[in-house]
Amino acid sequence: MRDYWIAPSILSADFARLGAEVDAVLAAGADLVHFDVMDNHYVPNLTVGPLVCQALRNHGVTAPIDAHLMVKPVDRIIPDFAQAGASYITFHPEASEHIDRSLQLIRDCGCKCGLVFNPATPLHYLNHVMDKLDMVLLMAVNPGFGGQRFIEGTLAKLRETRRLIAESGYPIRLEVDGGVKIDNIRAIAEAGADTFVAGSAIFNTPDYRATLAALRAELANANV
Ligand code: DX5
Ligand code: ZN
Repeated sequence: MRDYWIAPSILSADFARLGAEVDAVLAAGADLVHFDVMDNHYVPNLTVGPLVCQALRNHGVTAPIDAHLMVKPVDRIIPDFAQAGASYITFHPEASEHIDRSLQLIRDCGCKCGLVFNPATPLHYLNHVMDKLDMVLLMAVNPGFGGQRFIEGTLAKLRETRRLIAESGYPIRLEVDGGVKIDNIRAIAEAGADTFVAGSAIFNTPDYRATLAALRAELANANV
């Protein structure tokens, strides 16, 4: 079995009680905190920035924070997130004029880096940077909102990405974001994902521990 990580997306948390919400999902067994950053420019929604990331660290969160930047441009804000305690920083290649430079900037700031692919973004952006990636994130919905339906074509794209990662020989995580639920996480794992973002599937349920356990039980049955 792969080393599966579950990353609750704070987008569906109660923002008025964010520290307690993050504590609760981590106590319930989450592996990392998925932190969705939206700028009302690259995506049609607006969320939180480095101050809130820093607030979670100040609150005592020690788990890795997975900052998913849906912002354009990206370079200006990268050092701020590193400073604020992000562990992973991922961005969309269309949002950066200089992808290689942005990846290098993230690593120079001491964080792990990754590229995010929208449903219709081709994987060719990976061609010349496999040696510079810690994570590839495939969007299974168009970015901007939680609670959308998983786009089925993501499964084939996951299989292709898994093949590219295997061929590269690099230890790159393969994350999926959008529409991940108890009833599809197993098929998503079988297609090659090892890191699963889930927002509404976790935060819209009353018992996070039970939901995390149900997600893990499905993963335990995955045939990979
Ligand atoms: C969408 C965000 C996702 C979102 C996922 O742009 O990147 O992380 O929170 O939400 P669910 O799991 O509800 O699809
Ligand atoms: Zn996300």
